Amino acid sequence: MTQKFKHTCIASFAALCCMGVLNSCSPTASETIPLSIIPAPAVLEQQAGTFKPNAETVLVMPSAEQAYGLLGEMLNLHLQPIVGKQLQTATESSSNNAIRLVLTDSMPTTIETDSPKEGYKLDVTKQGITITATTQAGLFYGVQSLVQMISPEGVPLATIQDAPRFAYRGMHLDVSRNFYDKAFIIKMLDWMSFYKLNTFHWHLTDGAGWRIDIKKYPRLTSEAAFRGEADWKKWWDGDRKFVSSNTPNAYGGFYTQEDIKEVVAYAATKHITVLPEIEMPGHSEEVFVAYPELSCSGKPYKNSDFCIGNEATFTFVEEVLTEVMALFPSEYIHIGGDEAGKTAWKTCPKCKQRMRKEGLANVDELQSYMIKRVEKFLLANNRKLMGWDEITEGGLAPEATVMCWRSEDHAIKAAKQGHDVVMSPGSHMYLDFYQADPKNEPAAIGGYTPVKRVYSYEPMAGALTAEEAKHILGVQANLWTEYVPNEDHVEYMLFPRILALAEVGWSPKADRDWNNFKPRLNNHITMLHANDVNAFPLSYELEVTMKVDTINKNIVVELDAERFPAEIRFTTDGTTPTATSPIYSDAIIVKDSSNIVAAIFEDGKLMGTPSSKRVDYHRGIGKKITYNSKLYSGYMAGGEQALLDGYRGGFTYLDGRWQGYTNSLDAVIDMGEETEIHQVSSRFMQLTGPGVYQPGSVEILISSDGKTFTPCGIVATEVSPAIDVLTFQTYTLNGAWKGRYLQVKASEVNKRKFIFLDEIVIW
Ligand code: ACM
Repeated sequence: MTQKFKHTCIASFAALCCMGVLNSCSPTASETIPLSIIPAPAVLEQQAGTFKPNAETVLVMPSAEQAYGLLGEMLNLHLQPIVGKQLQTATESSSNNAIRLVLTDSMPTTIETDSPKEGYKLDVTKQGITITATTQAGLFYGVQSLVQMISPEGVPLATIQDAPRFAYRGMHLDVSRNFYDKAFIIKMLDWMSFYKLNTFHWHLTDGAGWRIDIKKYPRLTSEAAFRGEADWKKWWDGDRKFVSSNTPNAYGGFYTQEDIKEVVAYAATKHITVLPEIEMPGHSEEVFVAYPELSCSGKPYKNSDFCIGNEATFTFVEEVLTEVMALFPSEYIHIGGDEAGKTAWKTCPKCKQRMRKEGLANVDELQSYMIKRVEKFLLANNRKLMGWDEITEGGLAPEATVMCWRSEDHAIKAAKQGHDVVMSPGSHMYLDFYQADPKNEPAAIGGYTPVKRVYSYEPMAGALTAEEAKHILGVQANLWTEYVPNEDHVEYMLFPRILALAEVGWSPKADRDWNNFKPRLNNHITMLHANDVNAFPLSYELEVTMKVDTINKNIVVELDAERFPAEIRFTTDGTTPTATSPIYSDAIIVKDSSNIVAAIFEDGKLMGTPSSKRVDYHRGIGKKITYNSKLYSGYMAGGEQALLDGYRGGFTYLDGRWQGYTNSLDAVIDMGEETEIHQVSSRFMQLTGPGVYQPGSVEILISSDGKTFTPCGIVATEVSPAIDVLTFQTYTLNGAWKGRYLQVKASEVNKRKFIFLDEIVIW
């Protein structure tokens, strides 16, 4: 194995440990040093004091195998600053002053786990350190914990019993939309293993470029791995044409088979399985640039789905997968399966003939025919098929494993049918989403998934029996890279959110505690930055959460920061807080209206941009609402009452607060009795990427009998449809009206797709 990439990223980590970045310095003899291990071990018992390795300490390994040599190198790197030299290594020693890695036959801990072979026990006593495990992987993870424990004073006395909660802990990277080179992949593998992630899902093919050399189909990389425009969005919105690699300004690349072998072998030394994904039948536009005969039209730049009626498709797929299997020893091969358009299949003579011949009722079943056939091929080659949850449509292949990215329902259904499942939902595990207020962040695909949301994810989908729950193999976070143009930006999106992922995948559910994680997270950010990882530095914004209390008729507002420690000051009158504004310590109770503005202060200085939230315990809360227009399916937010529940939608329409409509909203609110009303307002979102636009205007009407409505007024939009960043407008009408029924009408005049709103506030 090449040594070129060995431990690239952690060379200076040792120094940082010794600077006390992760673990604090200079405790008194009776104090324990607070540790910052991520992911948190299942059981950690600490005592006061440390073991301080010295020049006489012996590193005792189970054997002279290279795998242990690697662990020895790792330990030496981190201990060098306190020992001053390399530790002597032996396979046997009677010395007490030792760091021993011991392989045993039986599990050294009683931790409940899906993956005992990854477990370990770590004992730090005054005399020395022992890590015990049944496998090299277990010892490897013990060493990862140990290196995170080193402080300038030595290694704190402790006993750790540890094993992962889930056997599958994955990170996905899309290298099609943008390409990142081999050295960068190696760097990411180092950090994945540091955080005990064990599966790298390599999304190697997609419509924006084919990234793996296939000997039998050389045109995939000579015709479809480079494009004339580096900027994905410009290219996608433009001609979407590919060019050859020697075209001036050609952007792209691919991995040679030697590159792949090197990455796979390197990953194995870090106990990471590389899971290759070869997309089919959809997301395959680039294939048809090189081999147009595999699409229904037979022409390049026309289709995104393989022609399933054409036998040549199966020859291609099997020959490509044969080369892929020779390169990747993984138990699973991921075949994509997501978001096939399926349109061309409906009229394609070959597809129609296939459907007739095979008795397939519709195009879903046609897709299922392909997935089942590919599964048969993989099984015959002793591999298992994994695919995105669309592979459930039209009938799931008998032994397929489902990677759930849409709703939990798909996971529950698959697990109930006895299929294994990996949880990777867009709601929590999509790292291409914004991690802070979009207006302060580089462009992302949309959404809002701050690190706290990733941390809050519970992969064990509800409504499963204990037996069914065994099918949940684990969890994965995905980084799609449409808006991730370079490697620095990949790091910015992955870190620190994969630290939260690591803890979700590894640590016991009962111990998951954001307030415990937060200080450790902050320490790791400092360490990552000093190690040349461009981690998102955590936001100075504040999370403002509301609890609407309809019994006491108030709203309880809580503030939280990612930063730790954080001195939070706030106002309730909409003004910017100053260094003398009240310090936030307890929840703020709002009985009517409040315009809360809060910020973090450091040394008397306001940091970042203040966060604000309008909070109204208004008169519409809980009133009956009827809709004359249809909600856009899937965007019913918090149910029928979401527009009148007191809760405000945040930065994403996926947060369960925003109500989505196709083009127009027409709703009637029953105030229950004749009521004097003097203000009605409603807030709408614009996010043009997924087709969400401001309404042309919002009109309010009033009625006493619910039949005859009188207009109160109309407010026009001030937001141009050309604005393509996330934008909000509140439409407010003031007046003096009396009635029982209020009608709210809003429509997207250009019929561009969707309008989203929350909340309607009535005073
Ligand atoms: C996906 O996000 N299309 C799997």
